[in-house]
Amino acid sequence: MPKTGTILVTGGAGFIGSNLCQFLIDKSFKVVCLDNFDDFYSEEIKQSNINDLLKSLLFTFVKGDIRNSTLLNNIFSKHKIDFVVHLAAKAGIRNSIFNPQEYFDVNVNGSICLLEAMQKHNIKNLVFSSSSSVYGNKNGKLVETEICDNQISPYAVSKRTVELLNYNYHINSNFNVINLRLFSVYGKNQRPDLVLYKFINLISNNQPIEIYGNADTTRDYTHIDDVVNAFYSSIEFLKTNGSNIYETINIGNDNPISLQQLIDLILKTTKQHDIKIIEAKAVKGEANNTHSDINKARKLLNYTPSVSIENGVKLFYDWYESKKLQNK
Ligand SMILES: NC(=O)c1ccc[n+]([C@@H]2O[C@H](COP(=O)([O-])OP(=O)(O)OC[C@H]3O[C@@H](n4cnc5c(N)ncnc54)[C@H](O)[C@@H]3O)[C@@H](O)[C@H]2O)c1
Repeated sequence: MPKTGTILVTGGAGFIGSNLCQFLIDKSFKVVCLDNFDDFYSEEIKQSNINDLLKSLLFTFVKGDIRNSTLLNNIFSKHKIDFVVHLAAKAGIRNSIFNPQEYFDVNVNGSICLLEAMQKHNIKNLVFSSSSSVYGNKNGKLVETEICDNQISPYAVSKRTVELLNYNYHINSNFNVINLRLFSVYGKNQRPDLVLYKFINLISNNQPIEIYGNADTTRDYTHIDDVVNAFYSSIEFLKTNGSNIYETINIGNDNPISLQQLIDLILKTTKQHDIKIIEAKAVKGEANNTHSDINKARKLLNYTPSVSIENGVKLFYDWYESKKLQNK
């Protein structure tokens, strides 16, 4: 067994998960990836996300659902798991408004199944992917000390609920927990529903893009390399600091840009000029602006965003083009 340890990554075939699994394997961790290839977007994309990973002896893939307690018990019995990184969830704010029960069943009930199985097997180190959406619709820099009881979508409520459940297991069962509140992650293997992928795809195919509300809304886009680094540092933090840990930490870029600025950047990167914009009604559930305060991440995780949005969009476009060539 590698001396670095074994990590269970739930949702490891998805966008963030597949990037994280690769990073951990490169660091010589043994990774067990549990993913049910949920139908939020195509199974083919998730399969392609893990194709290279499957070649590694350090990588084990288990196809299954986090709500299946028997399966979780089997995984924990078979593999000596040191850390759990919990990413499996129904993602997508807008979709959650139309399917709240489904979101709660996967995100909340699924997390309870995981926490219970961890408890049963005495596995107590957890890094959880929470979301900036737990802050609701607020202006200014978002700090972890802010009271978070004004979420505006079932997705966001589900994320906040799991943070609180994690606190429960920390207090009652001595779990060590780090909740990472992620801000608009983008990059390689990105989900096709997310704005950068969606717009680049439409613009490259000379199709109109749809803007909900107006293009003044801002987002603190955070590159996947920085996010993956933050997960790794969180695992290292748990390893080094040992016990009685419960931390909630923003992972953002501390440099929000407007949707219009993002569109301009995409046009510059793709060298396109004529695009048609369709204006649609603002979407419920989305905050107008997000801006992370990352002082806590800097202090505890030695986190510094390293990929500028200009460079990140270029890197994404290069990846998008190479994928297109592969699929020809
Ligand atoms: N992408 C972002 O900008 C962002 C921002 C904040 C938080 N997050 C959170 O980070 C995590 C990963 O997000 P992502 O963008 O990679 O999404 P994703 O949809 O690409 O990844 C989620 C993965 O979980 C799997 N999954 C869903 N339900 C499952 C279940 N019941 N059992 C097992 N696996 C299941 C899916 O098949 C998918 O591969 C999610 O929890 C998401 O809420 C993402």
